[in-house]
Amino acid sequence: MKLLKWVAIKAAVALIALGAMNASAAPTAQNLKAFDVLSKESQQCAACHKDKSRGLFQQWGESKHYGANVGCYECHQAKPNEPDAIKHEGFNISVLVTPKDCAQCHSREVEEFTASHHASAGKILGSLDNMLAEVVEGKIMLNGASPAAVSGCAQCHGSVIKVMENGDLDPATWPNSGIGRINPDGSNGSCNACHQRHEFDIKQARRPEACGKCHLGPDHPQKEIYEESKHGIAFYGNVEEMNLTSSKWVVGEDYDAAPTCATCHMSATKELPITHEIGDRISWTLRPPVSEKIDAKQRGKVKSWEARRDDMKKVCSACHTSTWVENFYVQFDGVVNLYNDKFAKPGVGMMKFLKKEGLITPTGFDDKIEWTWFYLWHHEGRRARHGAAMNAPDYVQWHGLFEVAERFYTELVPEFEELLEEADHDGKKDVAKRGRKLLDEILSRPEHAWFSGKEPEAVKKARLKAQEEFKKRYAQ
Ligand code: HEC
Ligand code: HEC
Ligand code: HEC
Ligand code: HEC
Ligand code: HEC
Ligand code: HEC
Ligand code: HEC
Ligand code: HEC
Repeated sequence: MKLLKWVAIKAAVALIALGAMNASAAPTAQNLKAFDVLSKESQQCAACHKDKSRGLFQQWGESKHYGANVGCYECHQAKPNEPDAIKHEGFNISVLVTPKDCAQCHSREVEEFTASHHASAGKILGSLDNMLAEVVEGKIMLNGASPAAVSGCAQCHGSVIKVMENGDLDPATWPNSGIGRINPDGSNGSCNACHQRHEFDIKQARRPEACGKCHLGPDHPQKEIYEESKHGIAFYGNVEEMNLTSSKWVVGEDYDAAPTCATCHMSATKELPITHEIGDRISWTLRPPVSEKIDAKQRGKVKSWEARRDDMKKVCSACHTSTWVENFYVQFDGVVNLYNDKFAKPGVGMMKFLKKEGLITPTGFDDKIEWTWFYLWHHEGRRARHGAAMNAPDYVQWHGLFEVAERFYTELVPEFEELLEEADHDGKKDVAKRGRKLLDEILSRPEHAWFSGKEPEAVKKARLKAQEEFKKRYAQ
């Protein structure tokens, strides 16, 4: 009681002191404009938190929100019956600020975001990857959750936030700014996955680092790909020419030095508005074992893959000619088709056969060949496809198709053959025979004939000749 009274007095003193300050001064904690332009609730939050939470107060003070008199209460207010509402210094507030809260003022962005794959990224429970975190890596639990998922998957994809009996947020589920977080108020996602609070600074969200928390690593290295691409090189070499702080940011009008992730996937072009529907301009899905072109359903309407691709081309055309862009897509499709037809579809066929015939168990990851196959499509095959999509030759080749090929010929095929041999030993002669027929059919295709020795002699000879000629370059 005593403490509360002291805090209240201190707040009142702070309010009076700050109220007397110069309203036009730069927004810093030391030199803050009068609070009296804020709502009367936010005046109190700000006055007390100025001392209690210096860092976040300062960040808010530097934000456009501060400039627009959007205070603490405007974002943190809650109705008393909301599941995550707490009583705090006489106010009903919620620590969580969800898309639903932002929607009071930014309904368009929230609507677009909510329709995107980002907003549903928390729904990964049934996925194969999820078995890794929950079972293969996990099983020693934290409040009913796997620590591997809590500090891993969920920090990117989003947790299912739980409010505990006493009203506090369950530490197994929060802090969390995963992009598809499932919030107690029924909304999905977190806007501060990209817009760091409390600055909510647009220049920070436009930078590739904003996406790089999640879009990196062995299975989706978009950040690394960008860094090694001509686009990334142009960005880092010309950051000061990117006009990142400008409120209008139309490619080709307000900047032209380089595109960032946001430029291609979100930001405005002369023809297109900004979109928070992150899949709006992509035609393939490069994530599954076999890539497909997607005609995606968006808020009731279907947008064809061609229409999505046309929108992406509008971005490119701010800096490139149509021939350049068309040819790029021919090259990109070439890699995806090669990966799909040469390695992925045969791989899917082999894995399906093993499962159907009971040569591996229905449980994921308990047979060696399942790990081999996972590396092939989930890591290496994605890397090759992503590298081709975003201009990173090293990811297409050495981190990509080279490893796909090595995995296919030196692991997947031999492990498949071993399983057929085991089947033979177990008396499943007929199954083994059918398995060999399947493999033989795959390896007899022209693209695999080099490996099975079924290449025509003329082709072999021509290659040997070319190799001899290549060697001569060094002799000269
Ligand atoms: C009289 C001082 C005071 C006032 C007024 C006040 N707060 Fe706080 N608030 C605190 C203190 C102290 C803490 C705890 C800080 C800590 O744990 O480091 C806190 C914590 C919080 C938290 C985190 C709670 C949690 O459980 O993690 C939020 C969010 C918050 N305040 C928002 C607000 C908002 C919004 C308002 C205005 C409606 C407000 N506060 C008014 C003093 C105040
Ligand atoms: C534009 C909306 C917005 C405004 C304005 C705002 N906040 Fe927040 N605040 C957020 C978001 C978003 C989070 C992240 C919470 C979550 O995980 O959902 C947050 C988190 C917090 C937290 C917990 C974070 C931590 O690191 O402990 C506190 C405390 C807090 N805000 C206090 C304040 C105070 C005090 C003010 C005013 C000076 C303020 N907020 C203004 C959106 C806002
Ligand atoms: C009460 C209304 C209100 C709420 C709630 C609110 N905002 Fe804002 N926001 C504004 C206004 C007004 C501006 C424009 C300020 C300007 O342009 O000067 C703005 C600007 C922004 C900007 C652009 C900043 C820049 O640098 O140009 C971002 C990003 C943003 N808000 C994100 C959010 C997010 C995320 C939330 C929820 C966590 C949120 N806002 C909640 C009113 C609000
Ligand atoms: C570093 C952040 C990060 C972590 C950690 C992470 N993911 Fe992901 N995940 C992503 C991103 C980014 C994508 C989208 C990749 C793309 O589009 O290329 C993705 C894609 C996926 C997909 C494919 C979704 C689809 O629509 O096809 C699944 C399923 C998935 N992740 C599950 C998991 C699980 C389960 C874990 C933990 C074992 C996990 N992820 C860990 C960032 C992460
Ligand atoms: C995937 C990252 C990402 C997420 C998640 C995200 N934003 Fe943004 N947002 C951006 C980027 C990048 C920009 C800058 C676009 C530009 O100016 O070209 C932006 C711009 C904005 C703007 C300024 C728009 C304008 O017309 O100038 C607002 C407001 C905003 N976001 C609100 C939100 C809200 C609300 C959410 C949550 C529903 C959200 N954002 C989620 C990346 C994101
Ligand atoms: C907090 C983590 C996180 C951040 C930050 C993030 N993403 Fe994502 N993104 C994901 C996850 C997870 C997925 C996969 C969602 C799914 O399908 O389940 C994804 C999917 C995507 C997709 C595929 C969408 C589709 O419809 O298939 C694109 C494109 C994308 N993100 C671009 C971006 C860009 C650009 C940024 C930065 C401006 C960004 N992301 C920031 C986690 C993130
Ligand atoms: C020059 C434009 C450009 C830039 C810059 C760019 N992308 Fe892309 N991105 C593309 C294109 C083109 C595709 C493939 C589109 C298609 O499928 O038709 C793509 C595809 C993607 C996908 C979909 C992958 C999947 O698995 O389906 C994600 C995720 C993504 N980009 C994220 C990012 C991130 C994160 C960055 C920054 C680190 C970035 N992009 C930078 C143009 C760009
Ligand atoms: C803001 C301008 C800008 C935009 C938008 C842009 N690019 Fe580029 N692009 C560049 C610059 C600058 C280079 C480097 C040129 C050089 O090095 O000579 C480049 C280079 C390239 C290259 C050559 C890569 C290499 O290694 O030589 C390709 C291919 C390419 N862009 C495709 C695209 C595609 C496809 C899009 C749209 C999805 C796109 N660009 C959007 C500016 C842009």
